[in-house]
Amino acid sequence: MLAQQLLLSAFVVLGAVAADSTAVCSTATATIAAQADFAQYTDCASLKSLVITSGDAEIDISGPTIITGDLTATNNSVMNSLTSTSLASIGGTFTLDGLTQLSTLQFDVLTTVDSIDWSGLPVLGSLTFSTGVSTASNVLITNTFISSLDGINLMTVDSIDINNNNRLVEIDTQITNISTSLNIASNNKALVVSLPNLSWANNMTFRDVYSLSTPSLATVNGSFFLIDNTFTNYTSANLTSVGNFATSQGSLAFVGNTALTTVSFANVNSVGGAFQVANNTAVATISMPELTQVGGAIDLSGNFTTPYAPSLQNVVGALNIQSSETIDCSTYWDTLKDDDIVQGKSTCISATDDPTTADGTSTSTSTGSSSSSTAEGAASSYGINHAAAGISVVGGLLSMLL
Ligand SMILES: *[C@@H]1O[C@H](CO)[C@@H](O)[C@H](O)[C@H]1NC(C)=O
Ligand SMILES: *[C@@H]1O[C@H](CO)[C@@H](O)[C@H](O)[C@H]1NC(C)=O
Ligand SMILES: *[C@@H]1O[C@H](CO)[C@@H](O)[C@H](O)[C@H]1NC(C)=O
Ligand SMILES: *[C@@H]1O[C@H](CO)[C@@H](O)[C@H](O)[C@H]1NC(C)=O
Ligand SMILES: *[C@@H]1O[C@H](CO)[C@@H](O)[C@H](O)[C@H]1NC(C)=O
Ligand SMILES: *[C@@H]1O[C@H](CO)[C@@H](O)[C@H](O)[C@H]1NC(C)=O
Ligand SMILES: *[C@@H]1O[C@H](CO)[C@@H](O)[C@H](O)[C@H]1NC(C)=O
Ligand SMILES: *[C@@H]1O[C@H](CO)[C@@H](O)[C@H](O)[C@H]1NC(C)=O
Ligand SMILES: *[C@@H]1O[C@H](CO)[C@@H](O)[C@H](O)[C@H]1NC(C)=O
Repeated sequence: MLAQQLLLSAFVVLGAVAADSTAVCSTATATIAAQADFAQYTDCASLKSLVITSGDAEIDISGPTIITGDLTATNNSVMNSLTSTSLASIGGTFTLDGLTQLSTLQFDVLTTVDSIDWSGLPVLGSLTFSTGVSTASNVLITNTFISSLDGINLMTVDSIDINNNNRLVEIDTQITNISTSLNIASNNKALVVSLPNLSWANNMTFRDVYSLSTPSLATVNGSFFLIDNTFTNYTSANLTSVGNFATSQGSLAFVGNTALTTVSFANVNSVGGAFQVANNTAVATISMPELTQVGGAIDLSGNFTTPYAPSLQNVVGALNIQSSETIDCSTYWDTLKDDDIVQGKSTCISATDDPTTADGTSTSTSTGSSSSSTAEGAASSYGINHAAAGISVVGGLLSMLL
């Protein structure tokens, strides 16, 4: 700040025009409090960091093509438009936070941003990114008014978190690889998520999604949680593994998807942690024809007919199957413990009024007063650690992400 004031004074005293532009351009953090303040930077090819604290409604930062550090605008209730016709790259974080009037965000040639961190943009309805951002490491978009992510189309990303955007009805991106995590939660109830090219992901959680499509998904290296979604169907024909069997990490959980009728992955052969299906009141069919190994528990509770998983060879944790429908336990499921396929405790209960999960949680809303100590006790009596018990994994991750 002080350095910048000194530079500004020097600028005025010398009466220089473009001569001093190099010094001005290398200001560590350029701060503009009005559009007029930006005039000194328009000839700069690049800036280090730019902070906008504008008292003007319209801010145009055209001129520089690169900001090597951060572009930041926070807590501003005056600015309604932020534009640039020249900026192509932001080497640091593009932070927009608490901009209550911002309705126009237009960056004609922006393609590369290290991190996008946008929150509290209650009137920003869309992005005007003509070229489109195609490279970003981290993306967080929360509490905005945007209805689609058109303008951001990444091929790969480390982490992406899109939550609480009440108008967001579409996420459609060509992304192929998500190396750390994806979280989508609490957006518009009609949200359609289409990830046609996604083939590899680490942790992924989808919540409150109306439609989900991942036709190319082959590997989820971490956990894959599908929670409280409203879709009637979801499958992924090319998915072969979730998590890492060698480390017993990475669970597959379907919890509280109340319209879903079928849980079926034709080609999943390995789940590293737990495989849990709970509180999906309409699921009638569970089919995992190729599932061979599970590093944690298999924990299925609900209203389904006999689950189909004929290829099981090794279940390191417990087996818990409880259904309010009549299921056949004796022909297959009850034999797995004796055949040393299931290493933990084994339970299979047909036609029960109160199907419960492996850690003792009731899945029906009318009954069940399992205290946490009961749940803990039940879990340990199953001889499974918490990482392997689906509910704990889900709870842990959710508290971390939300
Ligand atoms: C913005 O305002 C919020 C709440 O008023 C405050 O917590 C936050 O620190 C402010 N951020 C900045 C960068 O001033
Ligand atoms: C995706 O990224 C991970 C981590 O960077 C890498 O190990 C994996 O091979 C990549 N997968 C594909 C299909 O590119
Ligand atoms: C994935 O989630 C698990 C459990 O919450 C966590 O321990 C792990 O660090 C996460 N992995 C990545 C790459 O974020
Ligand atoms: C994504 O997949 C579609 C077909 O599903 C294909 O037409 C397109 O070329 C793919 N895009 C990339 C970048 O691989
Ligand atoms: C799957 O769900 C989508 C909406 O989410 C619906 O349009 C489609 O008809 C459903 N497909 C089947 C086979 O039920
Ligand atoms: C599914 O996997 C097969 C075999 O690896 C591949 O040929 C096919 O293109 C994949 N489908 C999609 C939609 O990615
Ligand atoms: C895949 O997950 C395991 C944990 O099970 C982790 O050690 C490994 O680093 C992950 N792989 C990549 C490429 O992130
Ligand atoms: C079974 O289905 C009924 C209605 O179809 C639902 O009310 C109940 O919650 C379901 N039970 C479980 C355990 O999913
Ligand atoms: C299922 O729903 C009940 C009642 O809402 C809740 O107590 C329980 O924790 C849920 N189970 C899971 C596995 O989330």
